[in-house]
Amino acid sequence: MMKVLVTGAAGFIGFYVTLDLLKKGHEVVGLDNLNDYYDPALKRARLAEIERFCAEQSVLEAFEFVEIDIADRAETQALFDAQAFDRVIHLAAQAGVRYSIENPHAYVDSNLVGFVNILEGCRHQKTAHLVYASSSSVYGMNTKIPFSTDDRVDFPISLYAATKKSNELMAHTYSHLYGIPTTGLRFFTVYGPWGRPDMAYFSFTRKILAGETIDVFNHGQMERDFTYIDDIVEGVVRVMDHIPVMHQSDITTAQAPYKIYNIGNNQPITLQRFIQAIEAATGKKSIQNQLPMQAGDVPRTYADVSDLMADVGFKPATEIEAGIEHFVRWYRDFYQA
Ligand SMILES: NC(=O)c1ccc[n+]([C@@H]2O[C@H](COP(=O)([O-])OP(=O)(O)OC[C@H]3O[C@@H](n4cnc5c(N)ncnc54)[C@H](O)[C@@H]3O)[C@@H](O)[C@H]2O)c1
Repeated sequence: MMKVLVTGAAGFIGFYVTLDLLKKGHEVVGLDNLNDYYDPALKRARLAEIERFCAEQSVLEAFEFVEIDIADRAETQALFDAQAFDRVIHLAAQAGVRYSIENPHAYVDSNLVGFVNILEGCRHQKTAHLVYASSSSVYGMNTKIPFSTDDRVDFPISLYAATKKSNELMAHTYSHLYGIPTTGLRFFTVYGPWGRPDMAYFSFTRKILAGETIDVFNHGQMERDFTYIDDIVEGVVRVMDHIPVMHQSDITTAQAPYKIYNIGNNQPITLQRFIQAIEAATGKKSIQNQLPMQAGDVPRTYADVSDLMADVGFKPATEIEAGIEHFVRWYRDFYQA
């Protein structure tokens, strides 16, 4: 059994990854700064849920929560000095595309400074595998579909995407220089129970239930590879055990134990179909305000997951209608809506 550092453990994906690792018998140190980008009460409720699980299973000592801001170099270093980790799953980040237009510095602090602090911790500990979250947003407005990890991703259209692409470059550098195995995961629009209130499915559900109008950008013609949370967790945990070996690609002689995977549903659907799934699950019709495309948004995402399938024998497959039904059921229960 391993001791795993999960950063962003009070976040949506980190919460589920933590629970899954605990279920598999691992020890988890969950790190988060509980910032108020969205309601910290939801983050605390996720932590309470983890603690409830540990109490039920009599494994309270298997989970430790540390409230640390990864942008704080001294605090992050002190954690790595105090504890040794077999694996690091780095999910803490300033997420969201639109907010990067409003508050660019939050992205620099958490996603660039914070990322280097995590890399440095792994470097000094010689961590056996660092798995970190990248994003489908690195593909920007690429026209070739599906998006492959072999495609060029040099044209980000939001600072968020630029920081995620930067993470991949920094990880490659550390893999090459210090031999730290790193795997970057480009997640494609993740949704599910305990999800993120800043994402469209969350506000759509709230507003449809309340009979309020929803803003539909690009007239609902955007396509997204919506990926259910359970599929993301399965991918993350399988990848954790698949450590990249030293190799070089066709276009460089630089050797590095470095890998990037897409984790997406491989089945893009229109925003309108997504809304219909929410309508079906809530039993209510939406009132829509049609709007043009927003700055920083991409028209379509579509993951090529052949590498993931070849290396870890898994690809996401949850149907949108089933996933949304789980989300809406959780939402009604959690918010008594
Ligand atoms: N949810 C998606 O659709 C999606 C898609 C692509 C990539 N990602 C990436 O996956 C990761 C997890 O995303 P999520 O959806 O769970 O988001 P989230 O916001 O729910 O979780 C991130 C967590 O990190 C914490 N955090 C942020 N900055 C921090 C800092 N400086 N120090 C310590 N903790 C900090 C936050 O408090 C939050 O709890 C992120 O890296 C995100 O960019 C998510």
